[in-house]
Amino acid sequence: SAEQHIEALIAKMTLQEKAGQLSIFSDMTRLASKTQINPEAGPPVDDNLAKRVREGRLIGVFNGFGAAGGRAIQRIAVEESRLKIPLIFGADVLHGLYTVFPIPLGEAASFDPQLAERTARAAAIESTANGVHWTFAPMVDIGRDQRWGRVAEGSGEDPYLGSALAAARVRGFQGKSLTDEDSLLACPKHFVAYGAAMGGMDYNTVELSEQTLHEVYLPPFKAAFDAGALSTMSSFNDINGVPMSANRELMTGLLREQWKFRGMVVSDYTADMELVKHGVAKDDREATRLAILAGVDISMQSDLYNLYLPDLVRSGDLPMAVVDESVRRVLRTKYLLGLFDNPYRSLNPEVEKQNTMTPQLRATARESARASIVLLKNEDNLLPLPKAGKKIALIGPFANDTLNLAGPWAPWARPDHDVSVEQGMRAALADKSLLTVTLGSMIEKPIEGGIDAAVAAARAADVVVLAIGEGQDMSGEAQSRTQIIVPPPQQRLVEAVAKVGKPLVVLLRNGRALALEGAVRNAQAIVATWFLGTETGSAIADVLFGDFSPSGRLPVSFPQDSGQQPYFYNRRTTGRPQGDEGPAFKARYREVSNEALYAFGHGLTYSRFEYGLPKLSTESLAWDATLTITARIANIGEREAEEVAQLYIRDRAASMTRPIRELKGFKKVRLPPGASTEVQFTLTRRELAFYNSQMQFVAEPGEFDVWISPSATTGVSKRFVLKAG
Ligand code: IFM
Repeated sequence: SAEQHIEALIAKMTLQEKAGQLSIFSDMTRLASKTQINPEAGPPVDDNLAKRVREGRLIGVFNGFGAAGGRAIQRIAVEESRLKIPLIFGADVLHGLYTVFPIPLGEAASFDPQLAERTARAAAIESTANGVHWTFAPMVDIGRDQRWGRVAEGSGEDPYLGSALAAARVRGFQGKSLTDEDSLLACPKHFVAYGAAMGGMDYNTVELSEQTLHEVYLPPFKAAFDAGALSTMSSFNDINGVPMSANRELMTGLLREQWKFRGMVVSDYTADMELVKHGVAKDDREATRLAILAGVDISMQSDLYNLYLPDLVRSGDLPMAVVDESVRRVLRTKYLLGLFDNPYRSLNPEVEKQNTMTPQLRATARESARASIVLLKNEDNLLPLPKAGKKIALIGPFANDTLNLAGPWAPWARPDHDVSVEQGMRAALADKSLLTVTLGSMIEKPIEGGIDAAVAAARAADVVVLAIGEGQDMSGEAQSRTQIIVPPPQQRLVEAVAKVGKPLVVLLRNGRALALEGAVRNAQAIVATWFLGTETGSAIADVLFGDFSPSGRLPVSFPQDSGQQPYFYNRRTTGRPQGDEGPAFKARYREVSNEALYAFGHGLTYSRFEYGLPKLSTESLAWDATLTITARIANIGEREAEEVAQLYIRDRAASMTRPIRELKGFKKVRLPPGASTEVQFTLTRRELAFYNSQMQFVAEPGEFDVWISPSATTGVSKRFVLKAG
């Protein structure tokens, strides 16, 4: 059996071979050849890598792929290494490989876990065809501070939405059975609270209460593991002084002992070595010992495990049993992936050709891209634009660019296959001459004459579409910002164009929520388009010209001002909330109110929806009973559209301060004009529970408000009482 084979292997392995199975490296040769698709023969195997493989000094490699190259390296492992243990190939397939889907934050705006599952499945099909077994995704960090660049990779600020999407993506990546050749092992990351980096500065330290850790940052991980994810990555940050890669309490105590997680933990890139810089290990040897004892099975890139594990065991500083247990987890995972039975799984050049950048993948990318678009504002129904009869000036750095469509962590995007905004709009327009295109401004630096050209184009047009916002390297890893604004040269461009007086449509490209200012904020129509990937232009044209009624809702609050960060709708109440009766001194800033400019959950359609008052099955909920809440939603506009009904609660009085609202459910409904439907949600004591001051997860009897509303700040609440048990 597999277990017997694993034990037999462990019994045969030298300490060095064990350390090898616990060490992973990026495949620089194949990473460098990323532009090759379906190469007849893959790039040559780097000599250094071949030597490592022969000596059994690695579990596998990451971020290099391609069936032919993978076969060549795998052959060395299974034919020329002493124990013939197959390699595993990893990659950061966050939102697609060659076919790029919207950034996860954008796709979160779809409020559609089934769609997220399908895009993850599609990404798994394409990347396994290209020799990837293991994706370092989904990224399930909650992002409550939009200055943090990596909010782009996650699902936004809310743990309920984040958990639903985390589970969906795991199901999509892993498919029906991990042994299937198109199943991709998922790695929800970064464990944990990486998104709570102080001040939104990437890699910064984290100060976090136990309650918030358990109520906000951990739930998406739990959901991902419950959905079957069998690996995770330890994050770069510390929590309250304990770096995650040395955090035994969370990685072993919580993850393995309480949650019974049976998969592998890989460190983030050199995160084990960084324990020295964190100042909790005096040297690399000590860092190695702390990391493996805390629960990091695999060391990424630093080579520390190869260098120090054997000696740590020999000198008695580390029990062999700890190393063996990590090796066991690795070998079991390789078994589960079917690698021992078929080391060449997912390494078939024919399948690679068939399943790379296919029309089906593109269709899924377009569907997902348009579902991710959020219509923030649409004064006087400026949108949709007509396909004929109006002259449109398309202005801005993203008008015809294909280098900023993919967004962060999509390094293998193929700009030559991706659709720019201009291409998408031209394809949709009946009369191509109606569109003029002006670059207007570079992303962060002005270009000579840019503003003049843009103003001239605006003068000649009936309506102006501004493709502006963040470049793709402005969000993502290590791209924290102090001012989450449209870059100043572009802001100046918009101010100048606005003076011309034509109706303005702002197409925001953004890897985070932005604080919109001046003429951008005042434009008649504002559309958040994130980074939509391969089908950007087609999806945007679908929305601009009304072939698709926008249906996205914000997974992150758009603040009024950068200085409001961290800003999230489900903040806890204070004793002096703004807008309340009582003393004049309030929890507020001098410059702006505490409202969001656009709240979590907000998003318009080309129709209008009306919500009836929520109806409760009882106003007095027994301890073990289930409450049913319903509301009628009517499409009172003129066209078919989708609405996202959101269920929120508020605990009126508890032993701890509680959020002013918390999302507890959502449903997307499609309604033709004039139609209505009833949406129904249920709540039990479990959804009302929270961590009290003793860290017990309890519901407390008392009053609750409940809303079914179109966003986190709208709607009319109803009250019910949870009765004591
Ligand atoms: O998976 C990533 C991680 O998110 C950031 N550091 C590098 C890893 C591997 O590429």
